[in-house]
Formats: sequence, C-alpha cells, structure tokens
Amino acid sequence: MKKLILTLSIAILTLSGVRADEGMWLPMLIGERIEDMKAKGFELSAEDIYSVNQAALKDAIVLFGRGCTGELVSGEGLLFTNHHCGYGQIQSHSSVEHDYLTNGFWAMNRSEELPNPGLTVSFLVRMEDVTAQIEGGTTAAEVVAAAEEGGKYSASVESLYYNNKFYLFVYQVYRDIRLVGAPPSSIGKFGGDTDNWMWPRHTGDFSIFRIYAGKDNEPADYSPENVPYQPKRHFAISTKGAEEGDFTFVYGFPGSTREYVTSDFVDYTLNHSNPAKIRLRTKRLDIIGEAQSKDVATRIMYASKHAGIANAWKKWQGESLGLARRNTVGKKQAYEARFEEWAAGTEYEGVLASLHAKYAELLPYAISRDYYNEAVYAIELLGFAGRLGRLSEANYKDYSPAIDKAITVAMLSDFGENVAAEFVPEWYTARLAECGSVEAFVEWLYGTSRLTSLECYEGAKAEGYDFGSDPAVIMRREFDNLYKEKINTPYITLNQEITELYKTYMRGQMAFEPERTFYPDANLTLRVAYGSVAGYEAADGVYHLPYTTLDGIIEKDNPEIYDYDIPQSLRELYASKEYGRWGVEMNGRYTIPVAFLAKNHTTGGNSGSPIINGKGELIGINFDRTWLSTMSDLDYDPDICRNISVDIRYVLFVIDKIGGAGYLLEEMTIN
Ligand code: ARG
Ligand code: GLU
Repeated sequence: MKKLILTLSIAILTLSGVRADEGMWLPMLIGERIEDMKAKGFELSAEDIYSVNQAALKDAIVLFGRGCTGELVSGEGLLFTNHHCGYGQIQSHSSVEHDYLTNGFWAMNRSEELPNPGLTVSFLVRMEDVTAQIEGGTTAAEVVAAAEEGGKYSASVESLYYNNKFYLFVYQVYRDIRLVGAPPSSIGKFGGDTDNWMWPRHTGDFSIFRIYAGKDNEPADYSPENVPYQPKRHFAISTKGAEEGDFTFVYGFPGSTREYVTSDFVDYTLNHSNPAKIRLRTKRLDIIGEAQSKDVATRIMYASKHAGIANAWKKWQGESLGLARRNTVGKKQAYEARFEEWAAGTEYEGVLASLHAKYAELLPYAISRDYYNEAVYAIELLGFAGRLGRLSEANYKDYSPAIDKAITVAMLSDFGENVAAEFVPEWYTARLAECGSVEAFVEWLYGTSRLTSLECYEGAKAEGYDFGSDPAVIMRREFDNLYKEKINTPYITLNQEITELYKTYMRGQMAFEPERTFYPDANLTLRVAYGSVAGYEAADGVYHLPYTTLDGIIEKDNPEIYDYDIPQSLRELYASKEYGRWGVEMNGRYTIPVAFLAKNHTTGGNSGSPIINGKGELIGINFDRTWLSTMSDLDYDPDICRNISVDIRYVLFVIDKIGGAGYLLEEMTIN
C-alpha cells in the first residue's frame, strides 16, 4: 500500500512538474504553490504566509545579523535564533571570569539583557517585481532610493533567474538587539565540530534575543530608554511535536544556491575548488586546534574563528561526497547533450558551447583566486595591514601572533607549491629568494612588522613610525595589486560574460522543460521551503529515524571529551526523570525529544529559521543539514537531502529546567 501511494504521488508530482520537496519559493508568489502545500498538509492560506494588507507570518521573521534567520516568539520582541548565530555576541560578553560560552547566560529580568553594538535584525516590509521598470531603463539605485523613503527603510534590488527578473526588497532594520539567553556550549554546541553536519544529532542549537525600539516602536539606536519592540505578529508554539510524514515548512533567508549551472561549474567545485580549500583549511585547523588544546584562554579566544573555519571545511567535504555519489557532473552533461540537440536552430543554439569555452578561460583565474582567499587572506597579519588606520583593541582581542605565524608558514608554503608564477607578486618572490626559505621569510616578516600586537602598533604610532615601510603593509599591497590586476579584473569580466550567457541558458532551460517549475536560486532573500518530517536511507540497509532524544545525549555523554561533556544538571534531570511538562513517550521511552529531520530545501542563512507545522505553529528551529545533503546547493536529491532542526520542546525544556529562566515562557504563546 505504502509503495502504491508512493508510486502514485511520484506520478502526480511528475505530471505537475514539481520535483518533490525541492524548492525555495518567493513568499509573494506562494499562491502558485498553495494548492500543493494544502494537499500535503498546510492548513492556512497564502495571505497567512505573506501579505502587505494584514499581519502575516513574514512579520514574525527577521534576517538576523548578516547571515542568519530569527523568529519572533512573543508580543514583546523576544526572538529565537541558533546558538551558532548568536555565538559571536555570546563570545563578546565572555571572559575567563564570566565564561558564558561554557556556562550559558540567562538574563533573569529585562535589566540584565545585554546590548550588542552593531547587531541588527531586518524585517521584510514588502517585495515587488520591478523587472519592467529595470528593463525600461530605471536604475536599481533609483528604485532603491524611492523605496527607502528618505531613510525610513533599507531596500535592495536583486536579480533572480540570472537577470531575467528583478525584485525589490524593502526592509525595516532594528538596531538595539539584546542577548536574553544562551545555553552552555555543552548544550548549544553539543557534539561540536565532530557532530556538525551529521545525523544523529543532539545539539540544542538555540539562543534568545530581544528587539528593542523607541517609544514609537520604530528602530532606534541603543538606549536604556528603549522599550521591547511589539511585532505585528509572533509565532505560537506547538508542544505536540510532529511525526514522520507530517507537513513542515521552513521560512527564512537562504543564502546562495546554484541549481541551474552547467556541468563546468560543478566540475570546478568538485575537482578544483573544494579539494584545495579543504586542504588549506585542514592545515589551519590543525594549527589552531593544537594551540587550543594546550591553553584555556586560547581555546576561548579562537573558539569563534575555529568554528567558522571548520564549518565550511566540513561542508565542502560532504558536498564533494554527495556530488560524486550522485554523479552530478555526468547527469548534467547528459542533460546538456539533450538540451543542445533540442536547441539546434533556436536562439539557444551554441549557448552551452560558449559557456564551456568561457569556463575554460576562467579556470586559471578561479583557481588562483581560491588560493588568494583561502591561503594569503587567511593570514590575519595581512588583515591588520588592510585595516591600517582603523585598527583597535577589538582586532587584537582574539589574536595570537604565534598561531598566525605558524599559519602563515603553512599557507605560504602551500601557495608557493600550487600557484603559477605569473600570479605570485615579484616582491614576494624576491624577498623569498633573499631569505632562503618560507620559514625565514616569515621570521623576518613577524620580527620586523609593527602590527603583530596592539602595544607594538600603538608604540609605533607614538614614535611616528612610517607604516608605509612596514613589511606586512608592503606585502598586503603587493598581493592586493597583483590580485586586483591579474586575477580579479579578468575574473570579474569573464564572470559578467558568463552571467550574460546564463541569462540566455536559464530562459533556454525554461523553454526546454516547459512543464517544470523553476524556483529562483537562493540569494539571501526571504523564502518558503516545504516538505515533511522524514528519515532517510543513510547507507545500504541503514535507515535513519527522523528523531533523536535525550537518551542519545546521555549515550554520547563523556566528561573526557570536550564536545560531549554535558552539564551536571542535565545528567541529574535524566537520572531523576523529572521532566515536568516536557516529558513524552517516544520510541518506547519516557524522554525529551531533541532534534528532527525533514525534507525542507534549505541552505546556509536558513540557520535559525522557524520550522513550522501545517497550522502555522513553531515546532523547531532549523540549524543544519546532513552531510550528504550539502550538495543540494547544486543538486537536490529528495531521497537523501534533509534539514536538521532542534525540537522546540527541547528548547523550552532547557530554558526552564537548565536555565531556570522559565519566566520567559510566560510571554510566549504555547499551545
Ligand atoms: N553547520 C551549521 C551551519 O552551517 C552549524 C555551524 C555551527 N557549528 C559548528 N560546530 N561549527 O551553520
Ligand atoms: N548552519 C547553516 C547556517 O548557518 C545552515 C545549514 C545549511 O547550510 O543548511 O545557515
């Protein structure tokens, strides 16, 4: 029976041209998908998702900082996002004495909530198709200026479908955002980089902030006079959970996908870019990790940097595995062969050959560009040289010259072995020859530069030192100049030509497959992805259930292993089973649900996004994908691509029982 339903639903999906569960849809156009969503279990209307006339769920969602999502959960500006999205803020309030990363942070009243200068959240006010205006000659800047209403809003015009469409997005940006709560890292980052991108997963990846506004509820700079923001809409929370097969959707800001690129791009990712970037990052991580394991202060200091470097490093590995396993290059080549046959005699004839030729031209620039970004610009000292005049204590707060020096040796050695001579600045080649080895060059660089510490830099400033003669400054300039002239300029020109060709190829694909529904690639604009709770076949004979529980945390718990050393209070709760209102029967045990899998198509930027049931209630917070899913940025596979969310019941349990901040639940709407 199950098989019959499956076969039938595949047939129906094929007929309607929608690939099951794939897609990140523009909320404004969600009406086009609403019948399909309803058939799968959505119980509300398109107007509940997006409306300019009434409060809709979109009014409860924010772009958090520059690359995460958050959702409002109370009428008093309270919002949830991921622990890893608030990580920088949590770290910035932490010291060896007040180690909120290790111990967690819970404001016990509003006056204890901590301000975060520079942090903003943006609400989408509206979006609009401005293709006709742009094609009629109005510039994007003019459209933006009109939409911003003299600074009231912040707007941007974004290209969709490779310049075939242009949409205006208008945001209201709030800038007094305070930290309210964060679990200890042993919960919020439980499993650390070992479990990152993996399933089964047991991470309580959430943190809590509150938006403050002026007395008129409008955005305001930080002030103790500000009051909690009153949103037009906030999420009701369901504590009933969701079961395998239940409808879910994720509403948030996915950053970047490229579903419609040619095999050339995928080949580049798989065979050039990912291997080089992974190797370079492995070297950096080894150096940082070793220093961290020897010293607590270093562990805190480099925590955020290490997590950031490790995250993409591991993602690229999963992506490469997924692309290879799915033979995305081969599949795309076969598709391209069919396309070319069809395109003969049409305006699309030859577009693939042109793209292929342009990619071949781009290759040397793309490769060296990767090496500049991942090796040369990974050297923090060069970062300081680039910020000369704007350097402050903040730059050096989390900096160890010893670590940076070791990284510099590793990065420059790899760079020297792999980058063609024409892309290496003559200045560097000459200095290297004089010094005799990379090690000696780096000794000289760090021994001579006055940028290796704040004291050294300020001392130099006081002496009237000529920073123009500083070796780090010279080095930065020489590498920048070469990069700009010989790498990035041709790279950008070629890329513009490639984008122009994609404009044609994109239209061609739409004409070639008229029955297929094409959703625009992600570009950090608000999207809806819908699917259902689902496990997956992880390997031959191995099925992964879609739910994990507290019992799994206890199984992993190990005081000897940093990533798996849970708080004593959690051990005690498990032993006493005093779960209060949060305990459930699951998999035959009395336990707490922790994380779950679903088939929603997500990517980086969807971190912190609400995962919502058919009634529009919040059931979890999205925070990751499984390892083999990460190729969904280029090639989505409904059989194995799964997003990972923390179950909202675990979030509430931790706030209540671990944080002792149960008072926060009173302002939420809990069904
Ligand atoms: N993989 C998730 C994302 O891409 C979580 C990253 C943070 N966690 C970590 N262990 N580095 O952002
Ligand atoms: N953790 C990711 C983020 O920062 C989400 C995981 C993904 O790439 O799907 O947005």
